[in-house]
Amino acid sequence: MLSFRLLTLLLVFFSSTLSSTEKATVSPTISLSTITPRPCGVSTKAFIRKKGYWCSASLTIFVDKQISYKRAKDSCELNGYVLSSLETEEEWNYYYNAAKAETRVNITSIWMGVGYNNSTQKYYWNDGNAIETLEPQPTVVKANGNTAWFLDEGLNKPGKRILKVVNSAEEAGSVKQFICGRPGPQFT
Ligand SMILES: *[C@@H]1O[C@H](CO)[C@@H](O)[C@H](O)[C@H]1NC(C)=O
Ligand SMILES: *[C@@H]1O[C@H](CO)[C@@H](O)[C@H](O)[C@H]1NC(C)=O
Ligand SMILES: *[C@@H]1O[C@H](CO)[C@@H](O)[C@H](O)[C@H]1NC(C)=O
Repeated sequence: MLSFRLLTLLLVFFSSTLSSTEKATVSPTISLSTITPRPCGVSTKAFIRKKGYWCSASLTIFVDKQISYKRAKDSCELNGYVLSSLETEEEWNYYYNAAKAETRVNITSIWMGVGYNNSTQKYYWNDGNAIETLEPQPTVVKANGNTAWFLDEGLNKPGKRILKVVNSAEEAGSVKQFICGRPGPQFT
């Protein structure tokens, strides 16, 4: 039931990103021959990362409960995406502003694509595309938990954003959003 609802949300979300994506790609001052016109298609937003395009979209649960990390991750994967990391300032700002602009629900935290490397004993961006270095490291509330970005606990500035490793079922409080992403065309 829930996964069906999430799929529906996915479709609803994707259709709502359509118009902004289309607007963003209309750029009369840039010669079309020099850019990839719609590197991410119509359903996700294209961000330029160091390695190439990253196509992502946020998904929100509009009921009075949180979404677990596992459901968030599974929802992305069911649709051919992974839980996204955030590499560039553009990505951080875009998703911060989008969350703050959401009036239907108070989004205070977002599940992130972060893993733990047991050999370096460090958390790292694990979407397979982002530069892996994660600084500052998340605050560990629950070892073996999962990582969410807490929007209201820091400034939306480099080095000031608060990521915490929390227990999906408890300390996470009310994570209502996650971001799915996948690579678009890569630079060679
Ligand atoms: C959202 O929730 C946070 C934490 O409970 C609270 O500090 C904030 O004022 C709320 N924002 C809105 C717009 O309700
Ligand atoms: C963990 O870090 C080591 C050393 O940098 C690296 O070789 C290894 O690939 C990393 N593992 C993962 C899962 O990223
Ligand atoms: C992580 O590394 C420690 C030693 O550094 C080891 O004892 C432990 O089994 C490792 N855990 C996993 C899941 O690999």
